[in-house]
Amino acid sequence: MASPPDTSKSLKLLRYQSYIRRVNSSKFLKASSKILFRSTLIAALILIIFFTIHNPPISSQSPHFHSHTNFLSSALFGRGGAAWEKQVHRSAKPDRPGGMTVLVTGAAGFIGAHCSLALKKRGEGVLGLDNFNDYYDPSLKRARQALLSKHEIFIVEGDLNDKPLLIKLFDVVPFTHVLHLAAQAGVRYAMQNPQSYVASNVAGFVNLLEVCKDVNPQPAIVWASSSSVYGLNTENPFSELHRTDQPASLYAATKKAGEEIAHTYNHIYGLSLTGLRFFTVYGPWGRPDMAYFFFTKDILQGKTIDVYQTQEDKEVARDFTYIDDVVKGCVGALDTAEKSTGSGGKKRGPAQLRVYNLGNTSPVPVGKLVAILEGLLNVKAKKHVIRMPRNGDVPFTHANVSLANRDFGYKPTTDLAAGLRKFVKWYVGYYGVQLGAKKGNN
Ligand SMILES: NC(=O)c1ccc[n+]([C@@H]2O[C@H](COP(=O)([O-])OP(=O)(O)OC[C@H]3O[C@@H](n4cnc5c(N)ncnc54)[C@H](O)[C@@H]3O)[C@@H](O)[C@H]2O)c1
Ligand SMILES: *[C@@H]1O[C@H](CO)[C@@H](O)[C@H](O)[C@H]1NC(C)=O
Repeated sequence: MASPPDTSKSLKLLRYQSYIRRVNSSKFLKASSKILFRSTLIAALILIIFFTIHNPPISSQSPHFHSHTNFLSSALFGRGGAAWEKQVHRSAKPDRPGGMTVLVTGAAGFIGAHCSLALKKRGEGVLGLDNFNDYYDPSLKRARQALLSKHEIFIVEGDLNDKPLLIKLFDVVPFTHVLHLAAQAGVRYAMQNPQSYVASNVAGFVNLLEVCKDVNPQPAIVWASSSSVYGLNTENPFSELHRTDQPASLYAATKKAGEEIAHTYNHIYGLSLTGLRFFTVYGPWGRPDMAYFFFTKDILQGKTIDVYQTQEDKEVARDFTYIDDVVKGCVGALDTAEKSTGSGGKKRGPAQLRVYNLGNTSPVPVGKLVAILEGLLNVKAKKHVIRMPRNGDVPFTHANVSLANRDFGYKPTTDLAAGLRKFVKWYVGYYGVQLGAKKGNN
């Protein structure tokens, strides 16, 4: 029998060849997908570099901002970058159900830093904004920033007048509240640099309100006015009903303007607005431009201090208010702030508009302030008593706080001696001062 031709071998060969072809083509596919992957990566990198060169992160008004960072890292970590956005989110996220999300402007400042910490400790989400200007030693602002950062609070470095930045912040976080404390503070400096008061306290405030009225939902706003709006008012104690149309400094005039601007934005756009008239706030991490602070410094250095008298040779007195009391007032105002009523830039109904004094209700003559400091520092002050120059300071302040007490239980509890003790303790620790031993005290 003739055996059939043996096709098995050639069949096997064929199968083998097709197998090889398949293997090769999948190898080819793998190789080509590798090439595709790599070229995509390179293209993406080129695009990122191209994008960062042509669209640096959101406009910065600080000329120093990009100088030392390269484009790629500033695209990621700079304002508007992915890592930046993550920091913003994390900082603003409340730690408790139904917590507030608060934008604190002036968070690297004295009152802003304290309020940010208090809100965060309570479980609210807090994001700071500050331009770190050098009105007083910015290293103190940086130290407050470091303290906040330890408590997971991030401060965005930027100016109130930077509208794209504010819009971006509200894009990333739907803030329920704004605690607006950023301002050009100080009464005397207004004669040296008047424009800085207009830029921050008027233009900056308007810019912030413009952004707040447009966003949806609109936040409720609590902001810092000042006892200085009472100006030449002689009725005593100062009540919210007293006249405030005689400011004695440009600082006071810009704060009074703020109160009128608040009225307008409440009236037209339904923004919920609460103004707080602070009375000479002092305490740890305080402001070096204020008397209690530079008196401490000068007394320790053996320098002569100027102690003011009024034009009628009476003692100048202030209603010094301890920072912890003020913080409680700010938090109380936030807690009782009603929602804004507008949306998309349109008013939908009447909204809350409030003004409160936050003082200590107990004016202390400046001579007494100096005596307390002498005791705490154990140094006799060299005093130079002079008439108060007519540069904006008022001779006397005294708050009536019954309104804040009625509406959110505000009740100051720290007197000047107790508060200054805490301030001096912080001061010597922060600046590393050795106090002389108290004589005859053991
Ligand atoms: N400390 C007081 O005795 C007192 C009294 C009355 C009113 N106030 C008001 O309370 C608020 C807080 O005062 P403070 O004592 O903490 O002052 P502060 O100067 O320590 O804080 C204000 C912060 O705002 C920042 N800032 C200023 N202008 C800015 C701008 N345009 N954009 C972004 N940030 C800006 C500053 O860098 C600063 O860190 C201010 O509005 C102040 O006018 C304070
Ligand atoms: C304080 O203000 C309230 C109104 O807010 C007023 O009723 C009260 O009489 C004032 N107190 C003093 C001592 O002036």
